[in-house]
Amino acid sequence: MTWWRSAVIYQVYVRSFADGDGDGVGDLAGVRSRLPYVRDLGVDALWFNPWYLSPWVDGGYDVADYRSIDPVLGTLAEAEQLIAEAREHGLRTIVDVVPNHVSDQHAWFTAALASEPGSEERSRFWFRPGTGVSCELPPNEWVSHFGGPAWTRTKDADGVPGEWYLHLFAPEQPDLNWDHPDVRREHEDVLRFWFDRGAAGIRVDSAALLVKDPDLPELDPASPAPHPYVDRDELHDIYRGWRAAADSYPEPRVLIGELWLPDPDRMARYVRPDELHTAFNFDFLTSPWEADRLRECIDSTLAAHREVGAPATWVLANHDVTRQVTRLGRAATSFAFETKRAGVATDPALGLRRARAAALLAMALPGSLYVYQGEELGLPEVENLQPHWIQDPMHHRSGGVDPGRDGARVPIPWSGSRRPFGFSPDDAAWPTWLPQPDGWASLTVEAQTADPDSTLELYRSGLAIRRQEPGLGDGELRWLDSATGVLAFARGSLACVTNLSGRPVRLPAHDRALLSSAPLAGDRLPPDTTVWLRLGTHTDNAAPAGDATQRSD
Ligand code: GLC
Repeated sequence: MTWWRSAVIYQVYVRSFADGDGDGVGDLAGVRSRLPYVRDLGVDALWFNPWYLSPWVDGGYDVADYRSIDPVLGTLAEAEQLIAEAREHGLRTIVDVVPNHVSDQHAWFTAALASEPGSEERSRFWFRPGTGVSCELPPNEWVSHFGGPAWTRTKDADGVPGEWYLHLFAPEQPDLNWDHPDVRREHEDVLRFWFDRGAAGIRVDSAALLVKDPDLPELDPASPAPHPYVDRDELHDIYRGWRAAADSYPEPRVLIGELWLPDPDRMARYVRPDELHTAFNFDFLTSPWEADRLRECIDSTLAAHREVGAPATWVLANHDVTRQVTRLGRAATSFAFETKRAGVATDPALGLRRARAAALLAMALPGSLYVYQGEELGLPEVENLQPHWIQDPMHHRSGGVDPGRDGARVPIPWSGSRRPFGFSPDDAAWPTWLPQPDGWASLTVEAQTADPDSTLELYRSGLAIRRQEPGLGDGELRWLDSATGVLAFARGSLACVTNLSGRPVRLPAHDRALLSSAPLAGDRLPPDTTVWLRLGTHTDNAAPAGDATQRSD
């Protein structure tokens, strides 16, 4: 069973997908009612962001109980039903498991707070005395991913300040101690819990962060020693255990890692044959819209994955990053958490044009593909959310400097000309949990359906061809000779050509054009456009890269 090697996986951010009960928050009933839409889009699987019981401090990545569904979204029975119904539509389900931390409302953490320093309950986390004369300083100077110190001080039962605990994210997300056998046992059990309910796989949240150096040393970029909490070698043993659990099912389950690691070779170690199956390609997601840089990313990704026999993945968006229409319309087109800012000028028409070209490029590359809900509609980032709407702790903990990630999480528009654009039922009692822009009427599923120029129909056509075309999905690519600033490669008898050069270029010899992200100009490919060509009789003649006699312009 190797469906995952070529799969198109659609990411469902449940709270913003479809609202079944009219409370303004997406839910499982909403997802169930929209399964035919996702099936017809032409994807193979759904990945659901966390749907567990949660105080929702970090969009559900603060899990209070991994075995129950948050009542705002539905019930466990409904999740089981959803998994079964999706499967009837030919859609597999991937659930999100968050092993690095739990919610501060999780039973283990409340028990730890109620217990003495040095207790068994506290040893499942990272409790430490502070430093300084009266322990008023944190145990070290690690910084949280959401800004501010990675440590919070507790109060003892008598109200006196006590030990500190580690949280690489928000204070409401205490880090687990993966050296503790309970933590390992519990997570393998949680995996089986969801596998037994029909989940085809799991996405492993923050997969490179679980293991910490027990000495908790200060970060020292100049030190040759392994990082105290990123990409530590001990992680591989954990994932080997998980792989054994996943492989024990008649239809083996799939493990997908969220690994933000800059070095493709270090990342590839996680997708060795007895570890995770695949990992998100963040190098591709963060790459600027530049041919050389993308080419380098594609080559290094494929080389590193080939080495370990794993398929590459291609990702342009998710719930943590600026939507590509907005990002690619800026002067600086790469994505970095450190430089992400609202209000940096963007050209939405240019961004959309590039996002469409990027989509056809990503769909044609070897391996599997992720589509984040709403990208198939060409939704932009919503950059003008008023601060009182924003829930993301990244925004609040940066003192409002960082816009946070809610702009990519706005409820998606389905139909009609007024908010909530079919997201909630007509008689809904509540507005959507994040406000949709008025201008989204032209971006609804309804408005785009059957419009041959729409982004939705481009995705539908691209995914349909991808599914039928034997050369696409898993496999290899063959670079073709092309002008500077152009990416051109062949997959079997299909060629994918993307023009990032800023001027029109001549198309390589071909039988016919199958699909393009913007209209062609005769035999020329306009800037910021991708075309898929049937090479047909020209397949064997298409000049491989390096043959300077057959340049395409
Ligand atoms: C991952 C999630 C992100 C979350 C973080 C902490 O990066 O994708 O949304 O905030 O982990 O769990």
